[in-house]
Amino acid sequence: MHTPTRRLFLGAGLAGGAALVAGCSDDTSSPGSDAPASSAPDPGAWDPQDWDSVRSQFLLDPDLAQFAAFVLSPHTRLLEAAIADHRARLGRDTEDALLVRESHEESVRQAAAAFAGGDPSQYALTDSTTMGIAMMYGGLTLRTGDEVVTTTHDFFSTEDSLRLLELRSGAKIKRVSLYDEPAAATVDDMVKRLLDAVTPKTRVVALTWVHSGTGVRVPVQEIAAELRDDVILCVDGVHGFATVDVDLPDLGCDFLATGTHKWLFGPRGTGILWGRDWEPLTELIPTFSGPKGPRRLTPGGYHAFEHQWAMKDAFEFQQSVGRARVVDRTVEQATQLKDGLAAIDGLTLITPTDPAVSAGIVCVDIPGVLPGNGIEELRSRGVVASATPYETSYLRLGPSIATSPDQVDQAIEALTEFV
Ligand SMILES: Cc1ncc(COP(=O)(O)O)c(C=O)c1O
Repeated sequence: MHTPTRRLFLGAGLAGGAALVAGCSDDTSSPGSDAPASSAPDPGAWDPQDWDSVRSQFLLDPDLAQFAAFVLSPHTRLLEAAIADHRARLGRDTEDALLVRESHEESVRQAAAAFAGGDPSQYALTDSTTMGIAMMYGGLTLRTGDEVVTTTHDFFSTEDSLRLLELRSGAKIKRVSLYDEPAAATVDDMVKRLLDAVTPKTRVVALTWVHSGTGVRVPVQEIAAELRDDVILCVDGVHGFATVDVDLPDLGCDFLATGTHKWLFGPRGTGILWGRDWEPLTELIPTFSGPKGPRRLTPGGYHAFEHQWAMKDAFEFQQSVGRARVVDRTVEQATQLKDGLAAIDGLTLITPTDPAVSAGIVCVDIPGVLPGNGIEELRSRGVVASATPYETSYLRLGPSIATSPDQVDQAIEALTEFV
């Protein structure tokens, strides 16, 4: 059992909590009345309570069971309509469309906060998880003698950002393994291994919420509860965002970077950086949005605004289905898949079966079959999967709201056939 500290109480009490977020209260402007309405979900055209209807919103080939949809958002019809609307306005009179850019950004921040908790001022807009990660680790001020504790399980974007942080600052990066066998990972052991590596010199802990190489979910909340409050906890949250039903302020971290073009199924080329308090971060990329709060940390330069502004519609799509329902649907199918795979001889389940230490990603190892060949075998049976992009690579399936329990059975059957 871990005793909660101020870090968790702070988060849990953050209902509309702008007052708790030092330095952020300046960003409370609401969208201008002249902000063009984007195409909000039309309840007449689909039924958010009906999973077939939700699935039919995706532009994906319906003849395939799409277990790699989370890798890069395939967009929904509603999202495409919203993008087309913004694109048309930008195309017709670009200068005029840009006049309401800040209103659109604020609408996105409000929709993000309505979906993932906290205050709109805690959301900076990015283009990807990688951009947010680079802004977190590039924006921190460390010096020689400081330590960063991270793990051996992180994605390249975190590893390389920390390499650059080490080069710039002289801080030492310390890597710990949170588990030997992913399938046997437990909350208590992961918390212990991480905390054992923390010393008085530790200034930053750098984690990935759900490991894309194994599907293991790191107990961020439990780690946060045990960390000294002066240690900055940074998280790559991409495979936990929209697959774990928690408000970001309650997670206990200080910064979380995530793309909104994976499990959220938002516009490709979009993401957010969430910050409890922006104060510790220096901006890396000059902003066009304003000097304070999330605007300071929202990278400037012109973007594909039709995508950035349509993030609002993606958050609203998830909201209309319901965050908890989406997560349950994902986890239920992941559990169904893991149960089915565990019964197949000659196949090793890499991801833990326990939902407390996993989310939507399910990795398997098939001795003698390269993941690339496994992908081809599955595709020939109508199942789309991906491979984990790590030195040790596994076949990876991600059930989601774009798949169905029948398709999970199809995937199990397809794997049974060729293993
Ligand atoms: C854990 C993890 N972090 C970050 C990324 C990169 O995300 P993005 O394309 O949004 O930068 C990936 C994979 O794409 C990933 O698996």
